[in-house]
Order: sequence, then C-alpha cells, then structure tokens
Amino acid sequence: MRKPGFARSRPKPSADPRAAVIAAALLAAAGPTAIADEGSLRPYAVVGDSIPGSLTGEAGDPARGRAIVVDRRLGACLLCHTGPFAEERFQGTLAPDLSGAGSRWSAGQLRLRLVDATRLNPDTIMPPYYRVDGLARVGSSWAGRPILTAEQIEDVVAFLSTLRE
Ligand code: HEC
Repeated sequence: MRKPGFARSRPKPSADPRAAVIAAALLAAAGPTAIADEGSLRPYAVVGDSIPGSLTGEAGDPARGRAIVVDRRLGACLLCHTGPFAEERFQGTLAPDLSGAGSRWSAGQLRLRLVDATRLNPDTIMPPYYRVDGLARVGSSWAGRPILTAEQIEDVVAFLSTLRE
C-alpha cells in the first residue's frame, strides 16, 4: 500500500502491459516513409552513460528536432512523454516529462538515451532509436534500418538540450 502523501516521481513502465503494445505500434506505424535511406549505422563510442561525440560530426538543428519529437509518426515521443508542447493535446503518461531534460542531462547523455536506452535500463519501454540489431516485432521494411537517422538523432539531441529549467 502506498503511504499517504507519497507521490511516485517516476512511472514504473516496465510493469505496464500497455508498454509493449505501444512500442510495437510505434515501430509499425512509422513505416519506411519516415526514414531516410540509411543502410547502416555510423560508428559511435559509449563513454560511461553517454555518447559524447555527434553521430554526424556536426551539431543538429533544434527546430527540426522539435518537429521530430512532436511528430506522431517520426519520433512519436509524445506517445509516452509529456513536455513543453502547449499545442499538442494528447501527451503520454508512461515516461518522465521532457521539460528540463537539457538541464538534467548533457548532450552525450541525451544521445545515448535516444540511440539505445536499453543500455541504461534493459527493461525500458523506450524504443532504441538508432539500433538495428535485436529488435523484436520489426516489420520487414524496417530490417537493417534505425527508427531515426543519425541526422535526426542529432536534431533531437540539439532540441532536448534547449529544454532547460
Ligand atoms: C514507448 C514509450 C517511449 C517513447 C516512444 C519514448 N520514450 Fe523516452 N523514455 C521512456 C521511459 C519509460 C523513460 C524513463 C527511463 C527508462 O525507462 O528508460 C524515458 C526516458 C527518456 C529521457 C530521460 C528522461 C529524464 O529526464 O529522466 C529522455 C530525454 C527521453 N526519454 C527522450 C525521448 C524522446 C526524445 C523520444 C522520441 C524520439 C522518446 N523519449 C520516446 C519511454 C519512451
């Protein structure tokens, strides 16, 4: 039983049966139109809980990153997350609010969370946005392709870094 007045600060998503359904729906919904033609992944180095270097060698574009985050098919982040997106009516309740993410995490930490959150939490429901191996329930059009391209990852990292509290 929960103590009165005790508010859980984070949802416990791995226990939520809706999680797998949402993750599968996300992968199925986006489809091949959402991704640029990128056959293989760029190499990157994980240092601690971060990928310090840009996947493209360049900084991303925050405005494009915001568009990817709110896009229901491309990033589909708002299936699970809430954030400072006043114009978006339906936002998720399965994951932390993205407000302040740029204060809580460095660009490198944000990059690793996007590239492959399962490296930090093997039970996470957050899809690995830049991984091609070991994915369950991937449609044939997805084989060998990450959900987001390296450029799109960098755009989202650039946008999240602007979310400061
Ligand atoms: C299917 C649900 C789901 C989707 C879709 C999803 N996430 Fe997450 N995300 C989570 C969960 C759950 C966590 C909490 C940590 C964990 O379980 O890994 C998280 C954690 C994070 C964090 C760290 C939050 C913090 O401050 O502690 C960031 C940043 C983040 N996600 C960004 C994104 C972005 C950007 C997208 C879209 C490109 C996205 N997420 C899509 C479920 C999701």
